[in-house]
Amino acid sequence: MKRANPFIPIYHTVNVGTNEEKYNAIKEGTVCLPAYLDVELTNYCNFRCCFCPTGTKSMKRMKGYMSDDVVDALTENIKKFNIAAVRFIRWGEPTMHPKYLEIMEKVKNAGALIHINTNGSLLDDVQIQKMIDIHLDSIKFSFQGADEGTYNEMREGGDYLKLLNIVRKFHKIRGNREYPYIQISTTLTGETLEQIENFKADVAEYCDYYNIGYTKLNHLNVEEMNISNDEKCKILFLQKQEKIKRVYRAVCVEAFNKLSINWNGDITLCCADYDNFMVVGNILDSNLKSIFNSKIANIYRETIANHQYGKIKCCADCYETVSLTK
Ligand SMILES: C[S@@+](CC[C@H](N)C(=O)[O-])C[C@H]1O[C@@H](n2cnc3c(N)ncnc32)[C@H](O)[C@@H]1O
Ligand code: SF4
Ligand code: SF4
Repeated sequence: MKRANPFIPIYHTVNVGTNEEKYNAIKEGTVCLPAYLDVELTNYCNFRCCFCPTGTKSMKRMKGYMSDDVVDALTENIKKFNIAAVRFIRWGEPTMHPKYLEIMEKVKNAGALIHINTNGSLLDDVQIQKMIDIHLDSIKFSFQGADEGTYNEMREGGDYLKLLNIVRKFHKIRGNREYPYIQISTTLTGETLEQIENFKADVAEYCDYYNIGYTKLNHLNVEEMNISNDEKCKILFLQKQEKIKRVYRAVCVEAFNKLSINWNGDITLCCADYDNFMVVGNILDSNLKSIFNSKIANIYRETIANHQYGKIKCCADCYETVSLTK
C-alpha cells in the first residue's frame, strides 16, 4: 500500500515565502499562530550519541520530564488555538517519559496530528500496539551511519541489529493499516556507496520513506562535552572529515512557523535550540498565541529576516547539510 506522509500538507504551507515575507505576515497579523509544535517530553536519554548535546552531556539546562501541569496547558492550548499537528521530537528520548503514550493520546484527542521521533530501543509489542490504538499518525526511527559497525560506533547504547528487528516488528504489527506512516532516517560520516546501498536494502521494505543525510559535526564544541579524551579525539577527527558545505538556510521555518516546547514548558523559537538560546516564554505563564506574537520573538525574527544569523548563538551554528559532491 502506498501511504502519504500526513504532515506534508502542513509542510507545504510553511515552506512558502522568504524569511522577510514570513516576518511581514506575522507583523501584519496574517499569520498569528504556529502551524505546528515540536514537543520535548524529556531531555533524558538512554543513549550517548557522540554527535548530540544530550548524548555528550554538553547541554547545560536542567534535566527533567514533562509534568501533568505542562501537559494540561499544552492540550488546552492545542484545543483553544486549533493547532494542527504536534511532533514529539527534540533533545532527549521521548519514549523514556513514563507517560509518553498517555500524553500522545491526550494530544491526539485534543485534535492534532501526532508524530514521534525515536531511537526505537525501548519499544516492545505492547507499546507498538498502543501507538496504533491511539492512531499515531507518523513515526521516525533514527539510525546512524549505514551498518552495524558505523551505527554502533556513533550511537553508544544502541545496537543496529536490535533496532532493525524493532522496526521490522513495528512494520509487521502495523500490517495493512494506513497509519502510522513509518519513516527511517540516517545521517552519514563518510560511509561508502556500497555501505549505503546495503543500508537501503536493510530498511526499504520496512518503511514508507527513508532519508539519508549528513551528520553535522563542525558546530560541536568538544571542550563542552562531558566525554572521554578518546571520544573527543574521535569527534575532532570526524570534524576534519566533514564533507558538507556550511551555508546558512535560505528560509527558516522554525522561527516563523513553529514553536518548540521544552519539558518544563519553556518555549523556544527553534527546535535545534538545545540550551535555551532563544526562549520566548513559558506555556504555564502565557498562551501560545501571545508567546508566538511576543516582542522578544519578533526581535529574533527581525534579526533572522535581516540575515544577521551570527547575532544569535543558535543561528550562527545553523547550516544546511549540502554535500560537497553535489
Ligand atoms: C536529538 S534526536 C531526539 C529524538 C530521539 N532521541 C532520536 O534519536 O531520534 C532527533 C534527531 O536529531 C538527529 N541529530 C542530532 N544531532 C545531530 C547531528 N549533529 N547531525 C545530524 N543529525 C543529528 C538525530 O539523529 C535524531 O534523528
Ligand atoms: S538517541 Fe537521540 S537524544 Fe539520545 S543521544 Fe542519541 S540523538 Fe541524542
Ligand atoms: S537555528 Fe536559527 S536560522 Fe537555523 S533553523 Fe533555527 S531559528 Fe532558523
